[in-house]
Amino acid sequence: MCGIVGIVGKEPVAPLLVDALKRLEYRGYDSAGVATVDHGHMDRRRAEGKLINLEKRLKEEPLAGTIGIGHTRWATHGVPNEANAHPHFSGDVAIVHNGIIENFWELREELIADGYQFSSQTDTEVVAHLVSREIRNGAAPVEAAHNALKRLRGAFALAIMFRGDDNLIIGARNGPPLAVGHGDGEMYLGSDAIALAPFTDTITYLEDGDWAVVRRGEFAIYDMDGNPVHRAPQKSVGTAFLVDKGNHRHFMEKEIHEQPEVIAHTLSNYIDFSTMTIKPLKSKIDFSAINRLAISACGTAYYAGLISKYWFERFARLPVDIDIASEFRYREMPMAKGDAALFVSQSGETADTLASLRYCKNQGMTIGAIVNVRGSTIAREADAVFPTLAGPEIGVASTKAFTCQLSVLAALTLRAAEKRKTLSPEQVRVHVQALIEVPRIASQVLHLEDQITRVARELANVKHVLYLGRDTNFPLAMEGALKLKEISYIHAEGYAAGELKHGPIALIDENMPVIVIAPHDHIFEKTVSNMQEVAARGGKIILITDEKGARLSTVETMETIVLPDVPEFVAPIIYALPVQLLAYHTAVFMGTDVDQPRNLAKSVTVE
Ligand code: AGP
Repeated sequence: MCGIVGIVGKEPVAPLLVDALKRLEYRGYDSAGVATVDHGHMDRRRAEGKLINLEKRLKEEPLAGTIGIGHTRWATHGVPNEANAHPHFSGDVAIVHNGIIENFWELREELIADGYQFSSQTDTEVVAHLVSREIRNGAAPVEAAHNALKRLRGAFALAIMFRGDDNLIIGARNGPPLAVGHGDGEMYLGSDAIALAPFTDTITYLEDGDWAVVRRGEFAIYDMDGNPVHRAPQKSVGTAFLVDKGNHRHFMEKEIHEQPEVIAHTLSNYIDFSTMTIKPLKSKIDFSAINRLAISACGTAYYAGLISKYWFERFARLPVDIDIASEFRYREMPMAKGDAALFVSQSGETADTLASLRYCKNQGMTIGAIVNVRGSTIAREADAVFPTLAGPEIGVASTKAFTCQLSVLAALTLRAAEKRKTLSPEQVRVHVQALIEVPRIASQVLHLEDQITRVARELANVKHVLYLGRDTNFPLAMEGALKLKEISYIHAEGYAAGELKHGPIALIDENMPVIVIAPHDHIFEKTVSNMQEVAARGGKIILITDEKGARLSTVETMETIVLPDVPEFVAPIIYALPVQLLAYHTAVFMGTDVDQPRNLAKSVTVE
């Protein structure tokens, strides 16, 4: 996902813009650029690849000026090269953009017919030319920007700057987030609070359809009809500090190791330790009154939701309909008014998940959001927010957010079971106790890292890996495959162990390691049968189990990773850790960009 920053400042802004862009690196990008206005002169520097290349350009050819805009680009239209990097210029206009202009092709044709020449393959450039044409036709910058914005369809967060005015940046938002930062005599625009944290912790998020006129020390927000609107400023708590890696090689490594702490922190928000119960949820979702729960999310967040389907149905006897958001949003699933829907999202900005939320809201459903970013769009549009308290997750591959999402979903399951009287208070207490033990056990599991690293060294030599699991370990098998493929680029698939004989077993040979996630639970023996099927065909098995599972598994394995015994209810949270460590260390051996894997973004705010 692209990153945007703008500063209407009092001191040279070029280095400040780059600093802010560095805080947006976690979003994933493939080129970057900045532009400034200085005494009527507007200029830019852009570079392909990492920000260090842009810094080199600025060292060679510095940019003066106390007003500027900057951008990290995650390519959607046009290859990642300097010509397609933002800011884009047209006449007296400079622009940076996050999102997709859906009607850009018709606008491009119109502008070409009007004599405009395009120097890039991007959709963004049409916006620069639209604004520039408005100015050519006599509009003042603010009016020109407003007129151009009304022509756009699609998703956009924009910052627009003008050669003739070194005290004006226009911001606009329709989809991807954009916030105004309030400084001391300076004003800022940024994609999120993390980008603005070096300058201010007081921010005002724009809503969809808002556009803002930002000048030194003042700003105004309008709707697309030009009516002034008020948006409340807020403190961006928790992002004021500069997120760094500490003594870890990667943010992902740091975030894996933070899990015992952040899971405990998250659980403390939901568990009443004095009564060993789940705290009453100040939420509009009444689990005793709903007949069905819809859940939608993407990627890792979806796998967390899928695990919770087993929990809600088993312990709360609550039927769950779950789907990946990119399908859910177009499926037109029939919903009953008054039913509830839960949306799981680390960033709270994923476009498909947000669209699914809005679909359910339009169906009159009560909306719950499990998010890691409180001020996010999904959080703000939900009726009930159930925060994960994982802290900023910088690594593109989601780890601590995932186990915190599971922790929240487990707490909601127990709350639902209590309200629906499908578990006795004693049974709830037992399950709450199991949750309370998770952080301690998770710490123990991290001590297995050396053994897991040795296994990872083997995995780094293979081309394909199969993950197998049953019940709540099936979604975890898919999550393990996602983790491995997204950071090591090794092809991996997660499968229900029982499905092996329906096709995937054809893949099994000595070159196909099979990672089996199988604590000794109520269906362990069934999984052992699947392992025998694999072994009989020369497949190499890496078994992740507990002491009893290791003892009772009658199958020879390439490696057996033995975890502490845990109650079946919380096993998915604990078994996520070896799965994450395996992917992480394999990627380290592969030498890939672990925190910012190729082609990926931390939050996908476009379709
Ligand atoms: C997870 O490792 C991936 N980076 C990705 O699948 C992610 O989980 C997905 O894009 C959803 O993001 P969200 O949680 O911010 O909505």
